[in-house]
Amino acid sequence: MKKPIITPWKVQGSVDYDKLIKEFGTEVIDDKLLLRIKKHTKDIHYMLRRKIFFSHRDLSFILDEYEKGNKFFLYTGRAPSGPVHIGHLVPWMFTKWLQDKFNAELWFQFPDEEKYLFKENLSLEDTEHWTNENMLDVIALGFNPKKTHFLIDTRHAGLMYKEAVKVAKRITFSTVRSTFGFDNENNIGEIFYTAMQAVPAFLPSIIYKKKIPCLVPLAIDQDPHFRISRDVITKLGYYKPGILHCRFLPGLGGMEKEGKMSASEPQTAIYTIDDEKTVENKIKKYAFSGGRDTVEEHRKKGGNPDIDVSYQWLTFLEEDDKKLEKIYNDYKSGKLLSGELKQILIDKLNSFLKEHQKKREKARREVEKFIYKN
Ligand code: TRP
Repeated sequence: MKKPIITPWKVQGSVDYDKLIKEFGTEVIDDKLLLRIKKHTKDIHYMLRRKIFFSHRDLSFILDEYEKGNKFFLYTGRAPSGPVHIGHLVPWMFTKWLQDKFNAELWFQFPDEEKYLFKENLSLEDTEHWTNENMLDVIALGFNPKKTHFLIDTRHAGLMYKEAVKVAKRITFSTVRSTFGFDNENNIGEIFYTAMQAVPAFLPSIIYKKKIPCLVPLAIDQDPHFRISRDVITKLGYYKPGILHCRFLPGLGGMEKEGKMSASEPQTAIYTIDDEKTVENKIKKYAFSGGRDTVEEHRKKGGNPDIDVSYQWLTFLEEDDKKLEKIYNDYKSGKLLSGELKQILIDKLNSFLKEHQKKREKARREVEKFIYKN
């Protein structure tokens, strides 16, 4: 097994989420907190029930303020470097639920310089292209255009840079180096980048001229940026942002092998623009199976849903607990075969993607509404 590595730019090996909570110093989202959320949302999103969103920083504070009538805004983002895959959609779908339930504004950052700085062979023209494409996927999820604002770093630089330097001045190279494992070969843009990612967590407070709490749903690999910028944000006079952390959707080859689904390994991912046939082929060919070697053995001993990628994917995608439970039990008992389980996932993905792709094309006409105009 590869040694686990988790930074915002690399996730490798099997991830021990309990250990991460300790290492990163975050808190579990426990039942008490779930009940508190439920008071406001009426139901509990399946990603909370299933602990896909499993950890947080200062969610209690965000709810304290909310209960006092001090509403928060949401903030998340996507560094454009290629097509969006199903794994990317996980935190965004949950963010959409939060927007609806709390009637919250969403500020969505497209740091189009980030992957340009961190990747060898990506030009700014490339990231501009991917920004335009990736925005469509975000819009397709149904965010409220009146309450959602896209920030594109190079396009909104005039607005953001002034705030970024205030953050940058208060973070030392030594902190960045140890947090991200940088060395003398990293370029100075990489060293500065965290400052840009911090800005949207307090920019709305500047724009609206009042302190507004901020809640950031993200995949746990993004936490280090906020671990080092949250204190700085309070030093600048704003509320400390609350953070909600989610797990990674495993790559098709399984978590042990590849870590999170990787956009640079196409056979491990399903892209939002994949057609039906491609989805079917990829799942059949690459989705790691927890089944037995022969049908006879599978019928007798049953499969292992806990390591089966198709089942794991369904826990991220199938909202209906009862359906999911039945699939789990049937697979474990040997009643459901691996090919049949894969087919359930293929159907689920294809019906989702059919709708998503329609909305994604429609979104081409709506982009301008979402881009923040200052
Ligand atoms: N760095 C993120 C990525 O690599 C993009 C991002 C920008 C982001 N701001 C964020 C992610 C806030 C989560 C929360 O895709």
